[in-house]
Amino acid sequence: LLSLFLISLHLWLCSAQCSPPNYTRNDFPSDFAFGAGTSAYQVEGAAAEDGRSPSIWDTHTHAGKMADKSTGDIASDQYHKYKEDVKLMSDLGLEVYKFSISWSRLIPNGRGEINPKGLEYYNNLINELLGKGIQPHVTLYHLDLPQALEDEYNGWLSPRIMDDFTAYADVCFREFGDRVSHWTTMAEVNIMSLGSYDNGDFPPSRCSYPFGVTNCTAGNSSTEPYIATHNALLTHASIFHLYKTKYQFSWHFRILDPLVFGDYPKTMKKIVGSRLPVFTKSQSEYLKGSFDFIGLNHYTSLFVVDNSAEALAMPIRDYNADMLATLIVWKNETPSDKYIPSSTPYRPYGLRKLLEYFKQKYKNPPIYIQENGCGLGMEDTMNDTYRIDYLNGYIGSTLEAIRNGANVRGYFVWSFIDVFEFLTGYQSRFGFYFVDFDEKELKRIPKLSAHWYSNFLKGKNIKE
Ligand code: NOJ
Repeated sequence: LLSLFLISLHLWLCSAQCSPPNYTRNDFPSDFAFGAGTSAYQVEGAAAEDGRSPSIWDTHTHAGKMADKSTGDIASDQYHKYKEDVKLMSDLGLEVYKFSISWSRLIPNGRGEINPKGLEYYNNLINELLGKGIQPHVTLYHLDLPQALEDEYNGWLSPRIMDDFTAYADVCFREFGDRVSHWTTMAEVNIMSLGSYDNGDFPPSRCSYPFGVTNCTAGNSSTEPYIATHNALLTHASIFHLYKTKYQFSWHFRILDPLVFGDYPKTMKKIVGSRLPVFTKSQSEYLKGSFDFIGLNHYTSLFVVDNSAEALAMPIRDYNADMLATLIVWKNETPSDKYIPSSTPYRPYGLRKLLEYFKQKYKNPPIYIQENGCGLGMEDTMNDTYRIDYLNGYIGSTLEAIRNGANVRGYFVWSFIDVFEFLTGYQSRFGFYFVDFDEKELKRIPKLSAHWYSNFLKGKNIKE
């Protein structure tokens, strides 16, 4: 029934294409921020330049673990092309650029000495953005742990990460905090723990299940994802308190119950049992309320069923068949006859429900939708009417949620330009600007969706 309902909703949205929805950027509050984002390893390139040392993603890609054998060594080369990119952002009309700092570019050994060239790069980028009236929203960590810390103490599996990350964050606040007002500690901790410690798709590829693309060699999927997440939560709280006592910006993290209520949800404790680490009373107090806003990355909605224990361990495998088309672009599967971009079901309804759920469950916290977007194969990527429909639907559902009282403050599209994708390398494209990764110049070419977003941001009707 649910599925039927969603299909009819989709048809309704399709018909909305014919008679354009009646909203523009100006229907959003004037202080609402629209933007787009990327992350360091995915765009910067210059992997071995100017004192940067390897992150776990360099090690992973150099070991040939990507299906297409790609690396982020050059990626979109934003390290050298940041001025050109900021100009494109400005032409597009972006109000915010969300990017991440490469920890191993700024502090190559993970702790200790600061790399002056790293400092210079991020200062230049931030100044260039501000010079064009674009607000930088900075993520401290987007999956790219310095390899030195993985080698030394197994990265996220050790509580030692807390001190090193806090020291790194301190450097960032001190050096950039006079110009950056919105900070995010970590992107997608849930995906980090799943990819790195459960299915092994992401470095350090630790897992004990017989699947994943990377032939895991060590690990324990029944405990390590929880340990890594637990350490990440406490690290986040440590950074939050550093900032509250020493600096004054805006903060955010994900995985909400511990941050709002100081503990994991009851159902989670019941299901995971003794494998779930426990917060002490003082840790629980330390965590409670440790954010100023919530960053939400939303791409699609999955159907789940009340199923076996195995399904609990691998819920993503239980998606409804009609979700295939969205998942293809992450898994690099051959498009099948189910893949018809112009009719692929996307789920804007899911985003609205989620925003309204947050409002009700977590006392209406300020929310930034930090990532929303869709990857397309090469054949659909330039004339990307599907992406336009997708964004149109999700922006519309954000507006509906706001009208229903959700406290949403911003919406950022993933991604500003085509980037190195963590699962598929250069095979799926999320950007407003096409990048030809086979060509030396790495020219940026605007897709249809870039013109569309630009018009929308300039206050034109969303379907123009
Ligand atoms: C979310 C991740 O944060 C980002 O790094 C990735 O490129 C997008 N999903 C698309 O897969």
